[in-house]
Amino acid sequence: MIINLNKNDLDLIKELTEKFPNVFLSYSIKNDFENNPYTNYLIYLLNDKVVGFLNYYEIYERMEIVNFNVLDQFQNKHIGSYLLDELMKIATSKKIKNITLEVRIDNEKAIYLYKKYDFVEVGIRKNYYNGIDGILMECEMIKMDDIYILGIESSCDETSFSIVKNGTIEISTVISSQIDIHKKFGGVVPEIASRAHIKNITYVLDECLKKANMKMDDITAIAVTYGPGLIGSLLVGVECAKTLAFLYNKPLIPVHHISGHIYANNLVKRLEFPLIALVISGGHTELILMDKDYSFKKLGGTLDDAVGECYDKVGRVIGVEYPGGPVIDKLASLGKHTYDLPIPLDDDSYNFSFSGLKSAVINLAHNEEQRGNKINKENLACSFQDVVIKVLTKKTMRALKEYNVNNLILAGGVAANHGIREKFKELCEENNINYTFPSIKYSTDNAAMIASSGYYAYLDNRFSDLTLNPISSVELK
Ligand code: KG4
Ligand code: ZN
Repeated sequence: MIINLNKNDLDLIKELTEKFPNVFLSYSIKNDFENNPYTNYLIYLLNDKVVGFLNYYEIYERMEIVNFNVLDQFQNKHIGSYLLDELMKIATSKKIKNITLEVRIDNEKAIYLYKKYDFVEVGIRKNYYNGIDGILMECEMIKMDDIYILGIESSCDETSFSIVKNGTIEISTVISSQIDIHKKFGGVVPEIASRAHIKNITYVLDECLKKANMKMDDITAIAVTYGPGLIGSLLVGVECAKTLAFLYNKPLIPVHHISGHIYANNLVKRLEFPLIALVISGGHTELILMDKDYSFKKLGGTLDDAVGECYDKVGRVIGVEYPGGPVIDKLASLGKHTYDLPIPLDDDSYNFSFSGLKSAVINLAHNEEQRGNKINKENLACSFQDVVIKVLTKKTMRALKEYNVNNLILAGGVAANHGIREKFKELCEENNINYTFPSIKYSTDNAAMIASSGYYAYLDNRFSDLTLNPISSVELK
């Protein structure tokens, strides 16, 4: 979590000073706040503890990064990128013209990171760091060729809008979830979902523009989920996108929902190719190989139920609220693997099957009930999740090896699962595979992922005219 340090938060100021003694040897944060009206500190907190910070000045239309540090033991976890992303977001919404910084000439890692964020070398400061030269770098924030994509997502039970700059910098996202409405029915009711989208959509759009401090005229193009999904729900988003494209004369970009889930990772870290994406959501379970942006080769997929659907059905059997996935995730972490469940489709293909596993859990629960035994929810959740993890990891790790691919990403709502993340993390580290997971909040449906994917579709001229129609079932291509 990133927060903007408040000058009255003395506990955090103390912790920051103690954690970075070398940085704060010569100045105190308290004095800085008192004497410098331009100073700001972005703090990265992990489990409520400070692990990194970025100190910057905001001086009218420009910014300067003064200090930027992550604790040694938390290096290589993208924390620096998260802090820079946040700064870019703030700078964009405040219409900052440029950001400058100095960096030691021998700090190759930092220079590499800044260059990724479009900082360029503009000068050398001789002996700036006690005999070592400093490089002055600058990032021009307002460029004529910046692309702002407005993303729209309404394929299931979330109405969402987002504005993303140049495919990677998220400016503002608003998600209006209907989970509470559908909970009492134990699942999404399509007709109710479309009506709720209609009710919400203009408010969500307004809030998204307001949060970004932007107008429709500032938007370059509009990207919308056209499928797959619930047809009535998709229709609301697509009609809204077409109306905006017509009114404001903007290009219209149709985005496949799964491509959106894949590009949710691009908001964490720019995708590196070739990669294998394991897509695990309420509607999909697929292994996809990508050699470059917008090149999707399906290696395999589920033959019946999607893994998220199976989580939700198992959730129903053990009597938890919809959606069952997040609850089972929590229960599993509290239980033990005590129930014997079959490992489905343990073969040489890259296909999956979850209906057998789902039936096995249902039968087990019924049998126990008939015998008058109470099922242990935690243990059943843990036993079920273990089997899911086993199948997903086994096939994915084999695909990485067979296709000689070094980058793995997870995508879709089930990618929020802690057990699945932990196991993939462990296996990737063991096998020297780079891995990226979407942020937890953007694992499930959102429009930021649609806007990010829409940017690469924009670069690839994948536009549509105003005859665009939603499609409830469509392959990713
Ligand atoms: O991607 P998503 O929002 O919608 C689809 O495109 O399908 O995924 C929703 C699915 C639901 O089945 C939900 O139960 C599951 O993602 N899910 C989880 C977790 N969080 C959401 N499944 C397992 N563990 C979680 N933590
Ligand atoms: Zn989804």
